[in-house]
Amino acid sequence: MRDLHGPARRHARALLLVARPCLCRLQPLQDAFAGLGAAQCGYCTPAFLLAAQALLAVEPRPSRAAIKQALAGNLCRCTGYLKIYEAVELAAARLRGEDATPARETLYGHA
Ligand code: FES
Repeated sequence: MRDLHGPARRHARALLLVARPCLCRLQPLQDAFAGLGAAQCGYCTPAFLLAAQALLAVEPRPSRAAIKQALAGNLCRCTGYLKIYEAVELAAARLRGEDATPARETLYGHA
């Protein structure tokens, strides 16, 4: 990684942060995906986590459009994408130190 510079270095660092084993607790993105049901079968989840981690490494407050753009190369056949986008937004807020909780509609749907 010493030979990398700029965005390539930040992306490599993000990948290392996701890949670093931590048996004691989930990372913020993992926790948000699990909490919001953004991962079901799990085929797509590793790639979404890596892409989201890379995004948050360079953009701590991404817009919904930026999240969609960053994750556009990944396909999910189970959840749709709304919960995935919401999980990234929740993790981003928590990583910024905000006391973020998901909206009731996010957890239980609309009445
Ligand atoms: S959770 Fe199954 S494909 Fe995404």
